[in-house]
Amino acid sequence: MPQLTRFLPTAEDTLALGAALAPRLEPGMVVYLSGELGAGKTTLARGILKALGYTGKVKSPSFALVELYKLSRLYLYHFDFYRFNDPRELEEAGFREHFSPDAVCLVEWPENAAGALPPADIRIEMRIAGTGRDVEIYADTETGRLCLKRFKH
Ligand SMILES: Nc1ncnc2c1ncn2[C@@H]1O[C@H](COP(=O)(O)OP(=O)(O)O)[C@@H](O)[C@H]1O
Ligand SMILES: [Mg+2]
Repeated sequence: MPQLTRFLPTAEDTLALGAALAPRLEPGMVVYLSGELGAGKTTLARGILKALGYTGKVKSPSFALVELYKLSRLYLYHFDFYRFNDPRELEEAGFREHFSPDAVCLVEWPENAAGALPPADIRIEMRIAGTGRDVEIYADTETGRLCLKRFKH
């Protein structure tokens, strides 16, 4: 059962959902962002980063696989495993250490690194629905449940 289900009519609504989640994120949390290409995963990450005070352009890390953001309140790694096909590469690239108690990790296309990633505290599943997007948010750990507790957005 998802902890939260929403219909997001426009991209602005996706940014706003990210902004509402941002203050609830704590270092050490792992957030999976799932959904087909164009579902709004990077837009949600943008909403989170802007609300955490990042004023630059949020790039889609498809080619680099990961971008690090040093924000005033926390460190955030934004992964995108779209172009990833061998979970063993994760070890070779030294990504494991990014999943530390010091940083929030947002992960697009976690399915492509299945088995090599730590489990998610929160899973956000997005789907194209007409001109808008459906989103379901699941809490998989106690940390995740606490994060979403009384989330009113
Ligand atoms: N709720 C929404 N309704 C309509 N369009 C959206 C919504 N959220 C995001 N978009 C748009 O969908 C497109 C793809 O978004 P993006 O975040 O890059 O998807 P993904 O990272 O899942 O591939 C962008 O043009 C974005 O503005
Ligand atoms: Mg993306």
